[in-house]
Amino acid sequence: VNERRIEELARERTLSAGELAALLATLTDGEAELLYARAREVRERYYGKDVYLRGLIEFTSHCRNDCLYCGLRRSNARAERYRLSEEQILACCDQGYELDFRTFVLQGGEDVAFTDDVVCDLVRKIRARHPDCAVTLSIGERPRESYERFFEAGAERYLLRQETSNPWHYGRLHPAELSIANRKRCLRDLKEIGYQVGCGIMVGSPYQTWDFVEEDLRYMADLQPEMVGIGPFIPHKDTPFANFSAGTLEDTLHLLAVIRLMLPEVLLPATTALGTIDPRGRELGLLAGANVAMPNLSPRDVRAKYLLYDGKICTGDEAAECRLCMARRCASVGYEVKVCRGDHVSRQRVA
Ligand code: 5AD
Ligand code: FES
Repeated sequence: VNERRIEELARERTLSAGELAALLATLTDGEAELLYARAREVRERYYGKDVYLRGLIEFTSHCRNDCLYCGLRRSNARAERYRLSEEQILACCDQGYELDFRTFVLQGGEDVAFTDDVVCDLVRKIRARHPDCAVTLSIGERPRESYERFFEAGAERYLLRQETSNPWHYGRLHPAELSIANRKRCLRDLKEIGYQVGCGIMVGSPYQTWDFVEEDLRYMADLQPEMVGIGPFIPHKDTPFANFSAGTLEDTLHLLAVIRLMLPEVLLPATTALGTIDPRGRELGLLAGANVAMPNLSPRDVRAKYLLYDGKICTGDEAAECRLCMARRCASVGYEVKVCRGDHVSRQRVA
């Protein structure tokens, strides 16, 4: 019955109510191979063997939020806080450019020191120095006007995971001052403004059920994001979720493949969290339909301070090492790093 579901999903890009949850809940290893093969076919139809690179710059570990799963939550007094200066961020981009990166992802906690003006300045400076590069922001919830200003300054992409589309589940993962309604408002605004938008969830987060995951998939089918960030939940020892278990490699791979079939053209990273729960996690992610890699470009001396979860990989490596390591990993599974901005196919102009 799962083989029939997989073929139907590959053909129709969706399944009827309850069937997505049922597929994910009961998939066996043998059936998963068929799912991955279909996901690879779809991925290769649109993106061939290319893997797009993003240079991830974790520019601030200060955060005003208190999400229960995250090591950077404001209640975690043991988290080491840092903030990169504009000069440091620009230097990261310059170094990243030399290492073939043509997309810079500025990711940080919700840090009040980075006002709209500061962010706009930074985006403008990066775009002016590297006009052939894209800037992606991943800095959380802001008013629509802020998103409009960032876009005018030259940021073309924005990552904001919904974490879970289900209101009850959202309430288990977040303090009361955050709401799924505002999160969805942000994602809708970003889409309307014209960003290439990335949403996403953690796999195996506390209290998650397959029905909630199906809700997330239907939300994504409706939003039509250009990117989807999916990684396993991994507990952090200094959070309220310290004693929950991590999401599994298999569940994450299954979900990557299902998303590839539902959103054939989507940009789908093999995430650091996936590489953290399994040494070959990212390679297996590529083989399940992922087509983006996001090596860490943050300065080495701050890497060990940006800890969303325990055991994070690459905290001791130089950017150049991660870049090389990633090329090797992609090649080991028959894919190839492509030096370009790596836009969504719908935004790729013929040069
Ligand atoms: N495990 C896995 N992913 C996490 N994130 C935050 N905390 C954790 C954790 N403990 C993810 C969230 C967030 C992204 C930046 O990192 O999904 O959106
Ligand atoms: Fe950082 Fe492999 S990607 S060391």
